[in-house]
Amino acid sequence: MRIGFLDSGVGGFSVLSEVQRKAPELDKLYLADTAHFPFGPRPGEEILAIVGAAVRFLQSKGAEALVLACNSSSSVVEGLSFPIPVIGLIEHGAKAAISATRSGRIGVIATEGTIRSGSYDRWLHRLGGPSIYVKSVATPLLAPLVESGRTSGRAAFGIVLSQLSPLLEEDIDVLLLGCTHYPFLNHLFREILPEGVTLVDPASSVAELARDLYQGGEGSIEFYVTGSVKVFEKIGRKVLGAPIRAQRISLNLHF
Ligand code: DGL
Repeated sequence: MRIGFLDSGVGGFSVLSEVQRKAPELDKLYLADTAHFPFGPRPGEEILAIVGAAVRFLQSKGAEALVLACNSSSSVVEGLSFPIPVIGLIEHGAKAAISATRSGRIGVIATEGTIRSGSYDRWLHRLGGPSIYVKSVATPLLAPLVESGRTSGRAAFGIVLSQLSPLLEEDIDVLLLGCTHYPFLNHLFREILPEGVTLVDPASSVAELARDLYQGGEGSIEFYVTGSVKVFEKIGRKVLGAPIRAQRISLNLHF
């Protein structure tokens, strides 16, 4: 079975790696729409057009389902249907955060688009009830840090600290990573947040779902990118810790 993945860049590798760990035999097609990075500030209609074009492209390559390895697009497609099943992250991330919290005080960090959509707030309250306290913070500087490979050092630490500052006095016990780029900054979150805060990444439950729903394949992985192949391969290697080979494609979208 062939499964497609979509993100604006290397962020979705956090989801791809989890699926690879839990369902290694599935054939995987990863599409990085770096030509339209970042997705975060884009209006919903543009994101929908990107997802529609990605579905068409991945289907033409044999994908029978799409994992949206991106929260910004997951928050836009909720409730919509596509020619193949599309699995988003929001509900799974919210479920994982609700089972991880003890105090009921949850912080959410994500792109502007995901926060503006209110999707995580809605799901967290739907699953956890009205007593759950949610502090949602848009952290638009974090995905670009990862996408440019600057995941360590003093400058990266300073940026992460300033983006997390609205959460530091909130006494949260769970931080929900509402953008797939963020797990690559976990070492900095750990340094900045109090020890008792659990970092929750939706990828793990989505990977379990993919493993339960889909079977078979030869474990192949192909990478497609809409922007520079060279840059994607370089950053991808850094983030994944292994060399990758990508092919350039166009989604023919003009915003
Ligand atoms: N990794 C994506 C997400 O989960 C998109 C980040 C961006 O392109 O702004 O939201």
